[in-house]
Amino acid sequence: MSFSTSTTEAVPTNLAPQGVDLEQVCQQFGTPLYLYDADVIIRQIEQLRSAFTYPKVKFKYAAKALTNISVLKLIRQQGIDLDVVSIEEAHIGLKVGFSAQQIMYTPSGVPFTEIDEAIALGVQMNVDSLPLLRYIGKQYGNSVPCCIRLNPDIRAGGHDKISVGHNESKFGIALSQLDLVVDVVEQYGIVINGLHIHTGSDIKDPEVFVEGAKRLYAAAQYFSNLQYIDFGSGFKVAYKEGDIATDIPPLAQIMEESFREFCQEYGRELEMWFEPGKYIVSDSGYLLTKVTVVKENPGINFVHVDTGLNHLLRPMMYDAYHEIVNITNSVGPLQPYQVVGYICETDTIAENRMLPQVRSGDVLAIKNAGAYGFSMASNYNSRLRPAEVLVYQGEVKLIRQRETLDDILQNQIEISL
Ligand code: LLP
Repeated sequence: MSFSTSTTEAVPTNLAPQGVDLEQVCQQFGTPLYLYDADVIIRQIEQLRSAFTYPKVKFKYAAKALTNISVLKLIRQQGIDLDVVSIEEAHIGLKVGFSAQQIMYTPSGVPFTEIDEAIALGVQMNVDSLPLLRYIGKQYGNSVPCCIRLNPDIRAGGHDKISVGHNESKFGIALSQLDLVVDVVEQYGIVINGLHIHTGSDIKDPEVFVEGAKRLYAAAQYFSNLQYIDFGSGFKVAYKEGDIATDIPPLAQIMEESFREFCQEYGRELEMWFEPGKYIVSDSGYLLTKVTVVKENPGINFVHVDTGLNHLLRPMMYDAYHEIVNITNSVGPLQPYQVVGYICETDTIAENRMLPQVRSGDVLAIKNAGAYGFSMASNYNSRLRPAEVLVYQGEVKLIRQRETLDDILQNQIEISL
């Protein structure tokens, strides 16, 4: 591994969401700590809204990105609906005040008992396999309107693991099996009220969305009761300076153009749905962590921090880049560091990262940690999951307590041996 030795000066950064002093927040709530800026969430939602002019556009926030109930409540208050992928997320959504009609339930190969439960809740069903469609037909006849999740057979997305719309991916029903879908639908009289795709995450090229849309439009001719087309999500955010994010206004424009044309051919104005997760919450979140040890090995400086892949899996799982700011010392010459977590595995958060001098006790802010940060966190190494705070109207509110050892032990049973 080669390390850069050039030393340029850091551009001083005053990272203070809504004017909040992050070091002080860490003193108050401890580290590691997830902090979310409500203003950023609201800003992102407004950006989405203002980009689209089609009156029947709906956004269903993908709850899996960040599921804290206070964040969900904030998002609901902004008039956004919900996309859930598990019965647990559906229950959480209802608890937070989303109506069943606002909730799109998109399971992936779940037990049919969970399907029964979701149907009893009254959420919108998104069917991702032929066996599930047959099950619903047999059990419920024409009484449960369904959306069909199709696999557009498009390989796109930031990382292979988050590219889920191609034919080797487990998701959705292949377009080549559309005739089988139609057979089942006719056999049971199932009302198909929507069609859905989700090609992947971190898709910056608008053409990918347009191509997916075309494939859905072609499929739509087989279903006469459609009320909406759900284009899923995949809007990319900028994880570092110079990163190209999905440019939403031009995307909105070309999608709307093609959608209006489609609706004309279809004969009715349908609703146009999207399910953004990352776009709404990624940028709002910081994982705040304290430097425990700076270890100067020959040729490589390790910065150990009091968090790791148990709290932020993205770097190890997707080779994801997360910008890091040294809150305690944001000035001075830049030096290369290997920022590593405390998990007893290779646990690299940032490789060869140029930072102003890092000392033990410094607080680092890992940026873009709002989406798929806490929601993918675990107790690996029997570590406690962090607290979460929301900066709302200039005030820092605790929205999840830090776990305790009792939380880890409470469901375990010590048998007599
Ligand atoms: N709709 C469906 C059906 C999905 O499966 C997903 C994400 C979304 C919407 C939201 O996509 P987004 O807007 O967040 O790109 N853990 C990975 C991302 C996995 C996304 C899984 N599905 C990451 O951290 O990059």
